Amino acid sequence: MESRLDFVSKDIENENEDEFEKSFKQMISTLPKRKSWGNREDYFQYQGFWLHPAFLKGVVSAQQRFHAQPTDTILCSIPKTGTTWLKSLVFSILTRTSFDDSTTPLLSKLPHEVVPFMELYHANFPTYRDMGIPVLATHVPYSSLPTSIIDSGCRIVYICRNPKDSFVSLYHFNDTILKSQNVQPPDLDEAFELFCEGVSVYGPYWDHVLGYWKASLEHPNKILFLRYEEMREDTVLYVKKLAEFIGYPLSSEEQQREVPEKIVKMCSFENLSNLEVNKSEKVRGGVIQNKIYFRKGKVGDWKNCLTSEMAERLDQITHQKLSGSGLSL
Ligand code: A3P
Repeated sequence: MESRLDFVSKDIENENEDEFEKSFKQMISTLPKRKSWGNREDYFQYQGFWLHPAFLKGVVSAQQRFHAQPTDTILCSIPKTGTTWLKSLVFSILTRTSFDDSTTPLLSKLPHEVVPFMELYHANFPTYRDMGIPVLATHVPYSSLPTSIIDSGCRIVYICRNPKDSFVSLYHFNDTILKSQNVQPPDLDEAFELFCEGVSVYGPYWDHVLGYWKASLEHPNKILFLRYEEMREDTVLYVKKLAEFIGYPLSSEEQQREVPEKIVKMCSFENLSNLEVNKSEKVRGGVIQNKIYFRKGKVGDWKNCLTSEMAERLDQITHQKLSGSGLSL
């Protein structure tokens, strides 16, 4: 039975929610806007980055309410750089003593279900962790992270990817989603132009990567900066690095039992993309079918999509934006 105190705290909650809604609406009305890819909804420029309205509210809410715990690991990325893969790897590392290849929840759940996005859910449930597992993900740029993530001393893992492959992956992802909703997607040239201008979800792409890169140089013990391409080359090595970094190192006995190799196999593109759950047209809370998260998983697929002029232009922008940073992509 609800007590009087429950009613009072619910009234306070509702009042706080109304206040939040009011100030959010007011704030959003002051932000610069651009038509998003496919002209469906506007992107809003918030703290220097273009955000989809579906994420923006969660980002603002997380900034105000999210409580990172010192034991948390936060997986950060800009979309289409390997988030789904990183989630499955870190989840497997963290849960390796509770589950094996035949019992892991990854067999029946999309990696996004086992490691949710902070800005989609945890903004409203700031200290709750799914299954008690201390890992969350976010696409929020470094400079906009909730201060508790910085102050708590929790660990951050950032994954980035070659911008040409990231753009091509984003273009196909967006194209598939919009077509499934009977919305006319932008053609390749139009999407490319917007990406180069920095107008893409959580973009500018280069500013997002640079924010985490610079922070990782300043706080190497707190932020692990990874590249998709390097991880594809020697995933076992990176599983060991990740395990060490997040405080769950693989013992020599585990290495003898080939635990890292088993994690790599379970999380490989070939394995995950062939699981029924990940082939499914099921929609996970919104508009995106599970299967859309798995396309080709290849390094260098941009060659099948971009003209040499487009590739050159992206290389030039990348060179110019990253110059002097010590980072090359
Ligand atoms: P492609 O579109 O180039 O195939 P994100 O997870 O950040 O949305 O990134 C999606 C990209 O990662 C897609 O790239 C997708 O195919 C690839 N991907 C998904 N699962 C993967 C896995 N297990 N291993 C490697 N790449 C994976």
